[in-house]
Amino acid sequence: EKGGYEHFMLKEIFEQPKSIHDTMRGRLIVEEGIIKMAGIWDHLEKFTNANRIIIIACGTSWHAGLIGEYLIEEFARINVEVEYASEFRYRNPIIGNKDVVIAISQSGETADTMAALKLAKEKGAFIYGICNVVDSSIARITDAGSYTHAGPEIGVASTKAFTAQLTILSLIALKLGKHNGSLSNGEFMKLITELDHLPKKIEEVLKSTHDLVKNIAKDFVNAQNFLYLGRGYNYPAALEGALKLKEISYIHAEGYPAAEMKHGPIALIDENMPIVIIAPKKGHYDKIVSNVQEIKARKGKVLAVVNTGDTQVSEMADYVIEIPETSECFSPIVASVPLQLLAYYIAVYRGANVDQPRNLAKSVTVE
Ligand code: F6R
Repeated sequence: EKGGYEHFMLKEIFEQPKSIHDTMRGRLIVEEGIIKMAGIWDHLEKFTNANRIIIIACGTSWHAGLIGEYLIEEFARINVEVEYASEFRYRNPIIGNKDVVIAISQSGETADTMAALKLAKEKGAFIYGICNVVDSSIARITDAGSYTHAGPEIGVASTKAFTAQLTILSLIALKLGKHNGSLSNGEFMKLITELDHLPKKIEEVLKSTHDLVKNIAKDFVNAQNFLYLGRGYNYPAALEGALKLKEISYIHAEGYPAAEMKHGPIALIDENMPIVIIAPKKGHYDKIVSNVQEIKARKGKVLAVVNTGDTQVSEMADYVIEIPETSECFSPIVASVPLQLLAYYIAVYRGANVDQPRNLAKSVTVE
């Protein structure tokens, strides 16, 4: 059932070219220049006239939500807020019938997310679900929604569900932007073409980085801390990279927006501090270059995820993982893959139970 892989997590990491393709299938029709999503189309006005969109989720799904905020604000120009379900539900949130709430949940059973949705529904908001498990509790109480179609995710640490959530959020943002006129047809076509290429790019990344990351991971088996940095769209990708490492290897890791480094975390940097930095060409590259300079001046160990052919960051970094270029907005989908592999192999070398990490459950049905 693990299809020849040692763990479900590795199998699921490798399934991503297919799961992303499945998530787009029947929705993204590049030849016709359209995105078909009945859930959005049937309620288009709810979205385009919304006061704001509030995205509610926990854990990895919350990280996907943060990227969703960047996507929807950039392409559809609708105000978006992202909240932890557990915080939202207990703070008497200001919400009404002009608000749209999007819940993101792999399992569709997360108690806090469910309770937050019930509250938003009572207050008259329109509720949209992005779930992976078909007919789950959250999928059933929402007014409309889109399934991620990533297939069953067995490993407790979420991998393919996360990239499928990012795929759905990309489709939603581009569709809304097209229909509300925020996105020109030319820009829309360019982006959907790029989206369509993602499964192939992920496949390339898996091929070209697997052995490399497996080797790099050996050097970090005894690390006690990790910092993950990224900017813009890749700031949430840094949070997610850190969460993966924490969950399965039990190494303390923190994700930060790279620019926040100087407001605190820089104090931690010395030769014993590994720093994963996500530095694709598109997206504040020059700023990232100076962050890496600051880290190297303090002898931090830099593991950089860069685009193929990169020179500036690569020359300074101690370890380099190359990934193909894509639009900035889709770069977290590509960059997440080697970070999943890194967490996976570090955990495996430490002898951890990767698929069933201690203290964690696949669906958190208690608050
Ligand atoms: C991360 C992880 C958790 C879940 C969180 C939300 O690898 O497994 O952080 O992402 O419990 O779960 P869902 O998406 O099922 O609501």
